Amino acid sequence: MHRVYFDNNATTPVLPEVLHAMQPYFSDHFGNASSIHHHGQETRAAVERARDSVATLLGCKAAEIVFTSGGTEADNLAIFGLVREGDHVVSSTIEHHAVLNSCKHLPSMGCEVTYVPVDARGLVDPDAVRRALRPNTRLITIMMANNETGVLQPVEEIGKIADEADICFHTDAVQAAGKVDIDVKQVGCDLLSISGHKMHAPQGVGALYVRKGTRLQPMLYGGSHERSRRAGTENVPAIVGLGKAAEIAKAALNRGELSPMAEMRDHIEQQILAQIEATGVNGQGAPRVPNTTNIYFDGIEGEALVIALDLKGLAISTGAACSSGALEPSHVLLAMRVPAERARASIRFSLGKQSTEDEVEFALGLVCQAVGRLRELSPTYNAAIRE
Ligand SMILES: Cc1ncc(COP(=O)(O)O)c(C=O)c1O
Repeated sequence: MHRVYFDNNATTPVLPEVLHAMQPYFSDHFGNASSIHHHGQETRAAVERARDSVATLLGCKAAEIVFTSGGTEADNLAIFGLVREGDHVVSSTIEHHAVLNSCKHLPSMGCEVTYVPVDARGLVDPDAVRRALRPNTRLITIMMANNETGVLQPVEEIGKIADEADICFHTDAVQAAGKVDIDVKQVGCDLLSISGHKMHAPQGVGALYVRKGTRLQPMLYGGSHERSRRAGTENVPAIVGLGKAAEIAKAALNRGELSPMAEMRDHIEQQILAQIEATGVNGQGAPRVPNTTNIYFDGIEGEALVIALDLKGLAISTGAACSSGALEPSHVLLAMRVPAERARASIRFSLGKQSTEDEVEFALGLVCQAVGRLRELSPTYNAAIRE
């Protein structure tokens, strides 16, 4: 069956160049990067080259990069590495669960959290962040790009507020890295998380930018890896893959190679909105990463559409994490005051470097057909139309 994958915010395929760069580090260059002999020196050099590449992508020094097992660990290290009993934290209602559930754990450590709301476009108001600050606020953690809608938050303004108040600012840039230019100095953040598998590197590797001078308590104790900020033998092949993916992403951003992706995304939106009634874009009007669109199809159960399209060869997602198997409407869309029924009728299309115009046309054809068929079967939709 011809299969098209438009779920790149869930994970991306490893690019052939990335796989090629990683391959020798499974067998030929297998040394432990902490060993002082030839084998160790070889892998140590590869890890440090990868660190340079990630630092170049983010505009920081190599020594400010800590490799982790992914975005979740980077987010956890940023939050639990910094926050202590009695501290107050400011976050938002639309964070990924890696941040949201970490914040939910904080009260049990004697910390308080304020969740600033978003407007109907999914944007945090920097003034709301300012108003939420207290004398004991230790950390602001607000994401750069939302994984469900692709909406880019005003992180530079939030960074200025944090700087003026002398408060640490962490941003989860897992869905922004490789899709928009990132310069940690311009963002004004002290901590920033990225994840390999959202940018065509393998799953199970990520990194946390830790601004020089930021004192983090490690979460893992063991050897003095990663300057004692994250113990454990480095996952060398994956780190090499992340470094290569960072290099490729930086070059693509410099060459403006993401505009065709944004055009394909815009084409999907225009065509769906023109051809299918009672549809719309969640997050319309807000700045967004170029690869993501979140569209509602009134009268449809998003999960049913995902399954129907999968049977025809198109992989998309409802956007909301469904690891629990629960069919709860997305907390992100609810926070944007999208009614629960419409939130359940929303699906996310997320493109990757491998996506093509032909795939977009194939997907559009399938979506139009599947929505038509599901709506024919929907008594509530048909009743609403007849009213
Ligand atoms: C915004 C955001 N943060 C964090 C994560 C978690 O990253 P990882 O899967 O590498 O643990 C994800 C993954 O979906 C994400 O989209």
